[in-house]
Amino acid sequence: MNPRIKLLRTSTFRLAALYLILFAVSVSALLGYVYWNTAVLLERQTDETIRAEVQALADQYRIRGLRGIIDTIQRRSAEDSGSVYLLTDSSGRRIAGNLNSLPAMPDDEAAWIEFPLDVEKGSSRERHIVRAFHADLAGSFDLVVGRDVEALRQFASIIRRTIYYALAIALVLGLGGGLLMSRNFLRRVDAITDASRTIMAGNMAGRMPVQGSNDELDRLALALNEMLDQIESLMAAMKEVSSNVAHDLKTPLTRIKARVEAALRSGSEGEYRAALERTVDESDRLLDTFNALLSIARAEAGQSRSGLIPIDAASIVSDVVELYEPMAEEEGGTLVSDARAGLMVMGDRQLLAQALTNLIDNALKYGAREGETPQITVSGAVEDDKVVIAVRDHGEGIAPEDRGRVTDRFVRLDSSRSKPGNGLGLSLVSGVMKLHKGTLVLEDNAPGLSAKLVLPLHHEAS
Ligand SMILES: Nc1ncnc2c1ncn2[C@@H]1O[C@H](COP(=O)(O)OP(=O)(O)O)[C@@H](O)[C@H]1O
Ligand SMILES: [Mg+2]
Repeated sequence: MNPRIKLLRTSTFRLAALYLILFAVSVSALLGYVYWNTAVLLERQTDETIRAEVQALADQYRIRGLRGIIDTIQRRSAEDSGSVYLLTDSSGRRIAGNLNSLPAMPDDEAAWIEFPLDVEKGSSRERHIVRAFHADLAGSFDLVVGRDVEALRQFASIIRRTIYYALAIALVLGLGGGLLMSRNFLRRVDAITDASRTIMAGNMAGRMPVQGSNDELDRLALALNEMLDQIESLMAAMKEVSSNVAHDLKTPLTRIKARVEAALRSGSEGEYRAALERTVDESDRLLDTFNALLSIARAEAGQSRSGLIPIDAASIVSDVVELYEPMAEEEGGTLVSDARAGLMVMGDRQLLAQALTNLIDNALKYGAREGETPQITVSGAVEDDKVVIAVRDHGEGIAPEDRGRVTDRFVRLDSSRSKPGNGLGLSLVSGVMKLHKGTLVLEDNAPGLSAKLVLPLHHEAS
């Protein structure tokens, strides 16, 4: 679009134009009022004075006759008052007054006339405008009474000129200001548009320009920048996850390939069989990893929130503990629970059971020091409107600085590498917590780890 047209179409310019019109109208009204109250009224007053004088002279004539009116006209003509008088007989001959001859005028009985008059001003002569009333005295004399209105007319024209100038200046300033304002606005909007384009073109580090004036455009830019920060960190996290996934799947696949190739080379049936069996095991583990990843994604997406129903978490605890008790005993350890009924939450039974299973699985794997057996307790209680299910062990625990990252996908601490696992267990737990609007809290059990599922308590609608 033509930049000039674009400028005229900005909302700032339209607003400025609207104000300009309002301003021009009010300025004109004000100046018009001043003009009316000075020039027009003064002219009217002059007319009235002339009319009164004509009336007075006509009265003189009626009462005192020709002599009386001549006397008065002569007396008044002598005064230097800017007044003009002329009395002529019907043939146009001057009888009295300070005008030499009748000016050109219409034949009407009585009429307003205007004519130029040369006036002595010191040594020079000036041409002034005279406004006069022409009256007919008893059909036999012509009477002209007028005033020099030059000063009045000049005054009026000065006022008129002032009005035009004031309007012109107001229009120019308003228009200029409006254009300037909208150009500034447009420039900033264009800058934001350009920044969006470069970001869309792939420069994720780009940000909207912020002026620092904290006006609405600045606030918009700041909000957009916050959004971009968030998008950038999400994208970075996603990139990391996908590269982690790729890396984690590559290792088992490479192993499978090497084993199958070795078996093929050996040519022995026994080797074939062994290779196939281990391939099946390895594939199972791969499938587990995929399933875990899918479950995490599903839980994090929060799709199934509508599928949450009120359930007593205590029943989940007792079911899972019952299932895992034998395993703890097999290792010579214990798994005890003390969850009382009434831990109502809005939840997905299967996902919550999976989360608790993952915590117990970790406690069985990492919950005992060298040469000791796992002593695990699972507790469930209501605290401050929250349902808290805690799995406690007496192992090495997780150092405070690692507690944040162990919930990331594929993160396994160095000390745990000897144990089986894919580093997805806690990621799923935190995904499930997210879905339930709860949190996974990892704390020191001094010694060991206390892993808590903190869920909002569900109040039964009464
Ligand atoms: N109870 C625990 N005690 C000590 N370390 C733990 C415990 N639970 C988890 N961890 C640490 O957190 C890491 C991530 O756990 P998890 O996501 O369940 O993966 P995995 O169990 O497959 O290793 C584990 O590798 C381990 O290093
Ligand atoms: Mg685990």
